[in-house]
Amino acid sequence: MEKPRVFITRRLALAPGSVLGTGIEIDQYDSELALPRDELLRRVHHASALLPILGDRVDKELLEAAPRLRVVANHAVGYDNVDVPACSARGVWVTNTPDVLTDATADLAWALILALARHLREGERMLRAGEFRGWAPTMLLGRELRGRTLGILGYGRIGRAVARRAEGFGMRVLFTARGGGVSLDELLEQSDVLSIHCPLNPQTRHLIGPAELLRMKRGSFLVNTARGPIVDEAALVAALEAGHLGGAALDVFENEPAVHPGLIGRDDVVLLPHLGSATRETRERMARIALEQVERVLRGDRPTTAVNELSSR
Ligand code: DGY
Repeated sequence: MEKPRVFITRRLALAPGSVLGTGIEIDQYDSELALPRDELLRRVHHASALLPILGDRVDKELLEAAPRLRVVANHAVGYDNVDVPACSARGVWVTNTPDVLTDATADLAWALILALARHLREGERMLRAGEFRGWAPTMLLGRELRGRTLGILGYGRIGRAVARRAEGFGMRVLFTARGGGVSLDELLEQSDVLSIHCPLNPQTRHLIGPAELLRMKRGSFLVNTARGPIVDEAALVAALEAGHLGGAALDVFENEPAVHPGLIGRDDVVLLPHLGSATRETRERMARIALEQVERVLRGDRPTTAVNELSSR
């Protein structure tokens, strides 16, 4: 009997064969580089399972090209790249990798907050350029965080982990969440640092646009480790150019991997290449969870991290 096949769209932090049983045939695009769309569509044709990363669009076109597909095991906690209703309509499970990246992402959000508050980027640049001429009482003065307000937009697992860390820094925390916290307006008006942790969906796309940026406190910082399109990048550039914001730190971009050219040259902006979950331990755990979901579905069990429900089961 033909073995069911999984198509894995990138190199993972662990070897798929160390998790998957021998009853599953592994087809892997074993590269860090983006998989061309036409190759993705070609290689899903015989796949019963797909393990995509967040840059792979799983839409109706892909589902058409994958008649045997039973599970999309997304290698991320966010699944805005997957058309979940279309998967459900075809009886395809969609799973994600919750919990295991919470601390890594919260840590990175704090790295960005501190980088903004203490001018890490400018200091590093200056030193490497040979411009450090010795300690000076007025050089690159940053801001204390103690006593300031951290606003958390989206109070899920990661938002709460960021809030827990705020206690150690003596910050007051405000948050917005479905069914709790303060209003978005209040969050924008009161926060010295606004950190974004909500999922991307039609309601949150450009949630932070020109009006919201203007409502933010003058001189405040914006940090985004969630998804780029939550922030209108052109509006952010305008707010920075106008001197309304004190700075921004972005790990995610509206048209990832492209970055708005207006951000690149700015000293008040810290930019990272989507490193939120990028620790060895976390990436191994993410890969393991995604592979386990593949294994479960292909042997006829329910996945444990499904984000959809299939009516016929
Ligand atoms: C996720 O899991 O959604 C992250 O953005 C990838 O680390």
